Amino acid sequence: MIKAQITNLKNEAIGEILEINEEKTLEEIRAKFLGRSGKLNQLTKEIPKLAPEERKNIGNLISETKRTIEDALWQAKDKFRKEKNKEEWLDVTAPGIKPPEGHLHLVTEAIREISAIFEGLGFQRSRYPEVEWDWYAFEGLNMAENHPARDVWETFFIEDFENEKYGKGILTPHTSSGQLREMEKYRPPIRMLNIAKCYRRQSDMSHAPMFYQFEGLVIDKNINISHLKGTIDYFTKQYFGPDRKSRIRPYHFQFTEPSFEVDVTCLICQGKGCRTCKQGWMEIGGSGMVHPLVLKNGGIDPNLYSGFAFGWGVERVLMMKYGIEDIRLLFEGDLRFLKQF
Ligand code: PHE
Repeated sequence: MIKAQITNLKNEAIGEILEINEEKTLEEIRAKFLGRSGKLNQLTKEIPKLAPEERKNIGNLISETKRTIEDALWQAKDKFRKEKNKEEWLDVTAPGIKPPEGHLHLVTEAIREISAIFEGLGFQRSRYPEVEWDWYAFEGLNMAENHPARDVWETFFIEDFENEKYGKGILTPHTSSGQLREMEKYRPPIRMLNIAKCYRRQSDMSHAPMFYQFEGLVIDKNINISHLKGTIDYFTKQYFGPDRKSRIRPYHFQFTEPSFEVDVTCLICQGKGCRTCKQGWMEIGGSGMVHPLVLKNGGIDPNLYSGFAFGWGVERVLMMKYGIEDIRLLFEGDLRFLKQF
């Protein structure tokens, strides 16, 4: 009777093991037949009830059955393992799949490119605070409080942040605030390149509330406009390409005298005039000869030294190089745009 039960149980277990097609079911089968409250254990509990001469035989039969089932389980497991290995098999000689590769932010790339160009001319990169005092951004640059020239710089003021000597706390609206700081730190000859974030209350296709400027400042004996123009030309050809031309146009800034705006020939029409640029030129920013009063404010004798300065937008030159029309594209992180570079 019990012998038949054991044989049936063995066949049942083997049958189930052969049928499964998922490795994790093996554990369920093991529990069902070999577990503590599994079917085989139930039968083991019957042994004490048997006649003494039968007990040993049945005991052996149960042990053998257990081994058979374990063997079958092991073999099934091995089969799954081999199948899995087959899937994971790796042909080390096959050509690889190239992982997608990104690049630095376009503005970071532009900053590096601009720095390298000016480093070649002996300019030294400087960094000055973005949270700045009124003195460095305005007052010391010949723009007294309430001077209408300040309007252009749509400035963010910081509440309850004031210094007795240097005035109100602001977010610097241009990198020209680095001019006086550079003069305080170094004596001429000065060749500064100050690249920093600037802030203005503005937002449209060509303006963002946070943007970058790069500012050049050169102070030495006998510096004149031809040095400024030569530097502008060199930058234009290096950054935009040998076919692009630059020009300076009279303008007004309180901290340079004379002052100029700098234009570069348009990328699209190369100076002929088109829909985007109107007259063939695109403006990249301001420049001029450092005002004697600014030199004096920086502790430099304007009778001995002269200098030139320029301040241009990083995003602006970048956009003009590639023909990008909306500055916001640079800050949105849209891969469809970024992958084009
Ligand atoms: N700081 C000026 C601006 O933001 C540009 C400039 C820099 C002009 C240096 C003259 C000299 O528009």
